[in-house]
Amino acid sequence: MWLGLVFCCTIALVAGVRSPHVDYIEELIRNQGSGNRISNNINEDATLDLPELVRKYNYPFEEHFVTTEDGYILGLHRIPHGRDSNNRPGNKPVVFLMHGLLSSSADFIVMGPGSGLGYILAEEGYDVWMGNARGNYYSRRNVRLNPDSILSNAFWEFSWDEIGDMDLPASIDYVLQRTGHSALHYVGFSQGTTTFFVMGSLRPEYNRKIISMHAMAPIAFMGNNSSPLLQALAPHARRIEEMAARRGIAEFMPKMPIFTTIGKEFCVDGAPTQPLCSDAMFFIAGQSGEGQHNATMLPVILGHYPAGVALRQIAHYGQSIASGEFKRYDHGPVTNRRRYGTATPPRYNLSKISAPVYLHYSETDPLGDIKDVERLFTELGNLAGRIRVPMRVFSHVDFIWGVDAKTLVYNDIIRAMRSRRRQN
Ligand SMILES: *[C@@H]1O[C@H](CO)[C@@H](O)[C@H](O)[C@H]1NC(C)=O
Ligand SMILES: *[C@@H]1O[C@H](CO)[C@@H](O)[C@H](O)[C@H]1NC(C)=O
Ligand SMILES: *[C@@H]1O[C@H](CO)[C@@H](O)[C@H](O)[C@H]1NC(C)=O
Repeated sequence: MWLGLVFCCTIALVAGVRSPHVDYIEELIRNQGSGNRISNNINEDATLDLPELVRKYNYPFEEHFVTTEDGYILGLHRIPHGRDSNNRPGNKPVVFLMHGLLSSSADFIVMGPGSGLGYILAEEGYDVWMGNARGNYYSRRNVRLNPDSILSNAFWEFSWDEIGDMDLPASIDYVLQRTGHSALHYVGFSQGTTTFFVMGSLRPEYNRKIISMHAMAPIAFMGNNSSPLLQALAPHARRIEEMAARRGIAEFMPKMPIFTTIGKEFCVDGAPTQPLCSDAMFFIAGQSGEGQHNATMLPVILGHYPAGVALRQIAHYGQSIASGEFKRYDHGPVTNRRRYGTATPPRYNLSKISAPVYLHYSETDPLGDIKDVERLFTELGNLAGRIRVPMRVFSHVDFIWGVDAKTLVYNDIIRAMRSRRRQN
């Protein structure tokens, strides 16, 4: 969370504190001349957009667009099958993957074939579809509203409530219609789990379209979040958002070339600043499990993150931390009464989620505190399984970027999906 901003500040901070190397620019120049083959490949992956990146590794890739009921045009990414010669298109089970905050379908792609969940599921025989929430790099369009308007923030007036209430239903209906299936498997990471819980409680008819749901690093309740920074900001979330909105700031951390440049120059193998990049990541997302952080991949990660959100998505998480409840966005009493019929926002009713949900969580995830995940167990309508990652220290982002995410998390998801096969 807060990934981009804190990342930069932390690099600056840690650099000032720890590493005032005078000769570092010299060394940087020396390294650049070396033409290291892996670094060249990594830096290329950092600059390619997802469609080109997936095709570079000889996987089939399709980009589709779906329009929501309120006019947002969302990019859907598909890897319809694997690249093995015996893994051909056909009537395959469908899986839909949904990304985390500040992110995109890159969550399931950037780590590459054999590591990224999108590729792994394609090789396992699934027809893989990846969503992109409104406002991110691949979904920054609306039939009426202009994301870059200087006169109005109307495009950006949404939180993850709207993503769960409208983007997921539109995307899922599109996928089912295209594939001729009546139901699919869903895998979400972080905000991709929050938005599922929103959909399952506000649009309970969608539970029938879900064969099984797998929540990696689930986020619903946040009252036990222990980050001092987030705790301090949380009570002021809406005020901060409103102040920013008055200054015309409603989008946060869009995809910016500067991050790609920072990654390629300062975080690449051989750059003496690379450890600072790693430290910045640990500061934000928690210490990675032993051997889970692959610093070589930092430039690719920074080439694809952040991908942009509405400030209100972050403010809504702030409200979750401050209230300790999983509730709809608090617009203030007047607007709340108009929108919800009550002065305070209603809770999402988790018992309405009748789709079978598997929770994959870590004991040491600083964003998804274990006490909050335990409360989620007790309130979900149909808890099918809760699986703690069998490694004590495992950070939020290790679920997608961890070296052993496949053996520690994905294999369990695949096993559970197999056990839930459904005829059409
Ligand atoms: C922390 O989690 C516990 C257990 O689920 C819950 O009872 C308590 O209300 C939470 N604390 C806050 C501040 O939300
Ligand atoms: C880290 O990433 C690089 C580049 O993709 C890869 O060659 C290497 O095997 C990875 N290291 C581990 C421990 O997986
Ligand atoms: C939540 O949903 C369940 C199941 O539909 C229902 O029985 C219950 O009354 C609801 N709770 C609230 C507070 O609306």
